[in-house]
Amino acid sequence: MDTSAKREQWLALIAGAADADALAAVDRQLFGQKGEVLELVRSVTSLPKEERPAFGKAANLLKREVEQALATARERFEAEALKRELTAGDFDPTEPGRPWQGGTLHPITIVQNELVDLFQSMGFRQEDGPEIESEYYNFDALNIPGDHPARESQDTFWLDDGNLLRTHTSPVQVRTMQRLTKDGFEPPLRVIVPGRCFRCETVDKTHEHSFYQMEGLVVDRDVSVANLIHTMKTCLRVILERDVEVRLRPGFFPFVEPGFELDVNCPFCGGKGCSVCKQSGWIEILPCGMVHPHVLRQGGIDPEEFTGFAFGMGLQRVVMLRYGIDDIRQFMGGDIRFLQQFSEVPR
Ligand code: DAH
Repeated sequence: MDTSAKREQWLALIAGAADADALAAVDRQLFGQKGEVLELVRSVTSLPKEERPAFGKAANLLKREVEQALATARERFEAEALKRELTAGDFDPTEPGRPWQGGTLHPITIVQNELVDLFQSMGFRQEDGPEIESEYYNFDALNIPGDHPARESQDTFWLDDGNLLRTHTSPVQVRTMQRLTKDGFEPPLRVIVPGRCFRCETVDKTHEHSFYQMEGLVVDRDVSVANLIHTMKTCLRVILERDVEVRLRPGFFPFVEPGFELDVNCPFCGGKGCSVCKQSGWIEILPCGMVHPHVLRQGGIDPEEFTGFAFGMGLQRVVMLRYGIDDIRQFMGGDIRFLQQFSEVPR
């Protein structure tokens, strides 16, 4: 059977389509249901057996040729449409693109990442704990007595089920010791716990209801206050980007004995006295102390054999000192102009 007449006819149809819509109609006519090309291919079954192979081959070649012609015509219409769009009045292809507005890291995240890197380089492991905490881990395990004012609802967000929003990261001390000693682990133990904490606090320049701490815990044989001071000095030197002097004053926290307030020499006046350090030359930076035997025992560690130190750094406080930020409310105020001043991009 001669297919050349059909070929001419179909190629002419395609060539004659004036636009994309007309071409789509030709496509349907040839390849849709009962499409002419498909019908031709199918008609092979009505032929005598000996004619079938030759016809089938010719019909398939023709089908492919027509498909190709359709595709070429379609691409031509698409290219024309794009060109029209690009040259339409209000589109200027030479206009520079809009710069991509990438986010930057929050200053607390920047400092937290640096601290985690630093402590990891000193052999600490990072731990995590729940923000919804039990009374036991937040208070009892830490030797905080039942009548301690921190337990009052003026200080702590209590939940209806008796749990609470953790008021500090210290509960993760006992959680971590318990988890490790359960599996037969023995000190040395060095952990840091960055995390968010909550207090029922009236918000002002220096107080937030949600804030970030970084807890540290070291347990080993013969751990001393000297180890604590050395570790804190190393850490503050890196974070404040300068050499630092520190001093310890007594501070009371039920989960350490002795407990300290650690001060750093004022970065603003270098120790001479200024309004930031209230003329004292020192700034209170973090509470710390030697881990109380009760806490070690709760964690499954024998206080006769091991000692340890712990610290609880208020991350906002460190960030404020480092960047000279004077209002803690900036951190969660959502003012993009504040946030854009810290240009570190996410890693
Ligand atoms: N958890 C205490 C708080 O939030 C801070 C603290 C004090 C943590 C002394 C410690 C520590 O690890 O040794 O007020």
